Amino acid sequence: MNTSLFKEICSTYATGVTIITSKDNNKDYGFTANSFTSVSIDPLLVLFCLNKEAKSNIALKKNSFFNVSILSNVQKDICYQFANNKLSQKERFSGIKTTESKNNIKIISNSCSFLECKIIDTISAGDHFIYIGKCLSGEINKSKLNPLIYHEGKTL
Ligand SMILES: Cc1cc2nc3c(=O)[nH]c(=O)nc-3n(C[C@H](O)[C@H](O)[C@H](O)COP(=O)(O)O)c2cc1C
Repeated sequence: MNTSLFKEICSTYATGVTIITSKDNNKDYGFTANSFTSVSIDPLLVLFCLNKEAKSNIALKKNSFFNVSILSNVQKDICYQFANNKLSQKERFSGIKTTESKNNIKIISNSCSFLECKIIDTISAGDHFIYIGKCLSGEINKSKLNPLIYHEGKTL
């Protein structure tokens, strides 16, 4: 099967959009991910896939904690700001309202919900790493927010 058909087929699968944040040496890292999914109930596990070239690997390999902010449909700009690899990590957080979890990692404010996780396993899979995290805590936004959807290369 050729790559473009593979990509096109995968793009017909609608997903939510998350920002995965992490920290190393007091520096905040964040990137947009639609590969986030829940994995297990006992124990409570989630996963996301990250390109092996991505800068966030530096932080994730050194500090095993990360947060997942699940974006709402009014957070399109945030989705593209954190996917822009022309921006430095510092620039990605510029103008974005955040709070911090107990482990000092940023959470995107006004998102649908968030999870605080600890990496328990990293699997090499082709040109990506699969990070598996155990969920330590989380919260749902009290306002009823609609999720940001990613489908056929567009955010809805
Ligand atoms: C909607 C959307 C979803 C994305 N999902 C992922 C993903 O799951 N994994 C990934 O490696 N990159 C994903 N990307 C691309 C990264 O966000 C982008 O390459 C980012 O610059 C990586 O950051 P880093 O290199 O600074 O760590 C996605 C981009 C968009 C717009």
